[in-house]
Amino acid sequence: VNADPSHAAEFFTPEERSLAERFATQGHLVIPVEDRPALDRLRGFVVDRAARFLGADPGGDPGDFLDGIHHRVAPDKLNEFRLSVIGDLNEAEWARPAYFRLARGHLGTIVGNELAMQRRFNLSVQLPDDESSLLPIHSDVWAGDSPFEVVLWVPLVDCRRTKSMFIVDPETDRRIQRDLARFDGRGVEDLFRAVEPRIQFLDVAYGEVLLFTQNLMHGNRVNREPGTRWSINMRFKSLLSPYADKRLGEFFEPITLRPATRFGLEHRLPEGFHE
Ligand SMILES: [Fe+2]
Repeated sequence: VNADPSHAAEFFTPEERSLAERFATQGHLVIPVEDRPALDRLRGFVVDRAARFLGADPGGDPGDFLDGIHHRVAPDKLNEFRLSVIGDLNEAEWARPAYFRLARGHLGTIVGNELAMQRRFNLSVQLPDDESSLLPIHSDVWAGDSPFEVVLWVPLVDCRRTKSMFIVDPETDRRIQRDLARFDGRGVEDLFRAVEPRIQFLDVAYGEVLLFTQNLMHGNRVNREPGTRWSINMRFKSLLSPYADKRLGEFFEPITLRPATRFGLEHRLPEGFHE
């Protein structure tokens, strides 16, 4: 297989080509949401369930309510609160199709049109100056994820600087991961210090989504912005690409299986027959 994308360039539209090049160079894309009503519905649902859990009136602007949630939830109650909201989200059958519609076209170009999607939502809530819910620098592949997975990361409030997540660019990532053995046993903070000059915090406003490859090192730091970070993430992968620890049917579920593939998967060659 010739993995050089330029080899097949003439099969892509100019738009697909430029998106693919951006993704290949940056390892991520920040793009406008493709279905704004679906995003608003997801955020409205989260606000409603969060307010219900707290016995609070969400008041006027849903973004302001989420941004200011640290005035209502103490750090030691945060996880219980977060799990309750995710549980509600996972029970809402419309939520995963709505989430897919946020970036369906871009997922088609970057990953493929026959996809498997994570079954359960992840929700991250990061209160300002809270040091208890950090995600140290890592690549998901180190912990057993397939390198064919991408993450669709959707903020429910404007996320910038330390309120957002950081990622390492593909070139730096290759250079550091090639020599990762020299960080063996030294702890991830040492690794973070080594890449710190090159990391990029991704500014993603409400109304935008982030698509990235989790092969690149990424993570977050203590949120030093005044508002609380709220983001949802879900993994997608090409349905027939190799799986690792996160299995099809357990962690992932086919969402856009095509009829020709269904014929292929169900096919059994008849036995005991010769033409
Ligand atoms: Fe990750």
